Amino acid sequence: MTEVVITGTGLYTPEHAIDNASLVTAFNAWVDAENARNAEAIAAGEREPLAHSSSEFIVKASGIHSRYVLDAEGILDPERMRPRLRERRNDEPSIQCEMGLAAAGDALQTAGVAAGDIDLVIVGCSNLERPYPAVAVEMQSALGAGGYAFDMNVACSSATFAIETAANAIRAGNARRALVVNPEICSAHLNFRDRDSHFIFGDACTAIVVERDDLTTAEARFGILGTRLTTRFSNAIRNNAGFLNRVTDSDPLAVDKLFVQEGRRVFKEVCPLVSSLITDHLASLSLSGDDLSRLWLHQANRHMNDLIARRVLGREPTVREAPVILDRYANTSSAGSIIAFHLHRDDLTSGALGVVCSFGAGYSAGSVVVRRQ
Ligand code: COA
Repeated sequence: MTEVVITGTGLYTPEHAIDNASLVTAFNAWVDAENARNAEAIAAGEREPLAHSSSEFIVKASGIHSRYVLDAEGILDPERMRPRLRERRNDEPSIQCEMGLAAAGDALQTAGVAAGDIDLVIVGCSNLERPYPAVAVEMQSALGAGGYAFDMNVACSSATFAIETAANAIRAGNARRALVVNPEICSAHLNFRDRDSHFIFGDACTAIVVERDDLTTAEARFGILGTRLTTRFSNAIRNNAGFLNRVTDSDPLAVDKLFVQEGRRVFKEVCPLVSSLITDHLASLSLSGDDLSRLWLHQANRHMNDLIARRVLGREPTVREAPVILDRYANTSSAGSIIAFHLHRDDLTSGALGVVCSFGAGYSAGSVVVRRQ
């Protein structure tokens, strides 16, 4: 069978960072103003006052200290509390295309691949800025790439699902070199007025070059030993925004048109799903946790990652074995596990094995087992 390798990765990090203290200050200012606006109803016992958020809670519950966003000012304005992004004209690059190009530059350079040699572009992410034309087709044109391109959305699992799709296209002979891009603008779907989740997400974009092993000259190659995907329907993470909103006469600004989750339930249900996925995947390759040097896990919650890594390895993971990037990036949806891979792969020696694993809404989870060549 055709050997497929990952030869390059790239990362675009937005320039604005928001630490927990600034986020909490803005949130609490909004809470105070909202409680003042509803003072009478609160005094009459008709309404519960809103509670403050706290940096201590955020760090303790999630491990997140800070996040990068495309626009901090709009988010930190208690009168607005959502990013302010400029609408692009049709003759300008779209925002996700721009993020994708920034990440792709690094990935192509590391892989030693010219953009024109790419013949498959997959943009996989949780939120696409428009239904069509596909952002991936726009990127294909901007890169001068050949072949074909398409967008796909499997929420936080989009990157691993896209890697499997790219690897299969290469094995089938339909493509030679693929670029997988994950432009995540999570700050645009996050409800910054929801105390339970206002701290969860950040923005970022990753890019991955996947190609046929016999075509590459790249030094650092990660051979894809296998991929495994799983899905199980759940409403515990849901976003009801969609093109039917205007014909169902629902309020497009209602909170259910943003990210909504039952965090505790997600934690309980997703951890076993993911640890079994990885363990079964390894077993199908005649491997076990003992064979792994690294777990590049989806970056949503520090405790989730510790638990999953513990179950897969059968012991306490070291920070080196299960690197954490969510402390600085927060949850960047599909980009998270790829950021961990991008920043923590170079030190692996030849023959070392690792797993890239993402998980999230759907539920969905994907595992990609790689060997450093
Ligand atoms: N500041 C202070 N206190 C807060 C708070 C905040 N921002 N948000 C919630 N709390 C309070 C709650 O009101 C609750 O108080 P109570 O015990 O008096 O009722 C308490 O803190 C615990 O809340 P809970 O929601 O149970 O916290 P948690 O420990 O489950 O942590 C998450 C919340 C979201 C960090 C965690 O559940 C999580 O990460 N889950 C997985 C999410 C995930 O991976 N999603 C995938 C997205 S792709």
